[in-house]
Amino acid sequence: MTALLFFAMPGAESLAEQVAAGLGADWACVETRRFPDGESYVRLPVEVAGRRVAIVCRMTPPDPQIPPLVFAAGTARELGAAGVALVAPYLPYMRQDARFRPGEAVTSRQFAGLVSGAFDRLVTIDPHLHRHASLGEIYDIPTRTLASAPLLGDWIAANVERPLVIGPDAESEQWAREVARRAGAPHLVATKTRLGDREVRIALPAMDAWRDVQPVLIDDIASSGHTLVEAASGLLAQGLARPDCLVVHALFAGDAAERLAAVTRRVASTDTVAHASNAIPVAPLLIEALKAFA
Ligand code: R5P
Repeated sequence: MTALLFFAMPGAESLAEQVAAGLGADWACVETRRFPDGESYVRLPVEVAGRRVAIVCRMTPPDPQIPPLVFAAGTARELGAAGVALVAPYLPYMRQDARFRPGEAVTSRQFAGLVSGAFDRLVTIDPHLHRHASLGEIYDIPTRTLASAPLLGDWIAANVERPLVIGPDAESEQWAREVARRAGAPHLVATKTRLGDREVRIALPAMDAWRDVQPVLIDDIASSGHTLVEAASGLLAQGLARPDCLVVHALFAGDAAERLAAVTRRVASTDTVAHASNAIPVAPLLIEALKAFA
């Protein structure tokens, strides 16, 4: 088997370096820049012929990264790489997974088609699976989905006394249950109604039986922050302690992090998306999963 060679897209350098070091593999940066008219220039500065290549990309924000990422993968293939994998700790374009209004693009499928055409394997962490049961439904290439729940559960066990894990909506039940089990904590799930990109209503159950706990809100994605802010505000309105918030993918658009900080005790996240709240490194998870290919 040929040794794996990692390439980092801009912003993924430290993650690629950690993962490559953990596997004793080589790594290099994909060289990218913009031509004066805005087009992308891409160069692979290391010989790839006959080598299996893994391109690490943080994919946030997604749109500026997608053309150079696809060009880098295509270049690796043209230059004779023995395989080209995408390592995307956060997988974007998973939430528009249905045509809610006539004419809308189902971008989860469109993006899956794009990635499946450019790469021959995908490794990611906690993709947002709601209406798609698995990535295999929309991706035509082998996919490996890693779960951050053990890392989140261990963080709670080490950092929170008397935790109660709370998921803000039905979709979060899958993470909340597993994280709570790992942390040895109880869990419950609220109900969310989404009224728009930046408007949600969260209905919490009566919390009278949970006066003495430290609430830990958990969600896979914090984007506008409204889901977690509403959930935290609901807990405060019922007289509970300011919650801790644990997020897998800390997108935190605009002033979301500041608004969340105002109603929580602390916010922690994995480093799938680089953010000031990062407290839980995912490199160990990626290293373990990629051992099979190294
Ligand atoms: C929803 O389906 C996800 O699990 C998150 O709850 C959602 O993406 C959070 O979005 P926002 O931070 O914009 O409320």
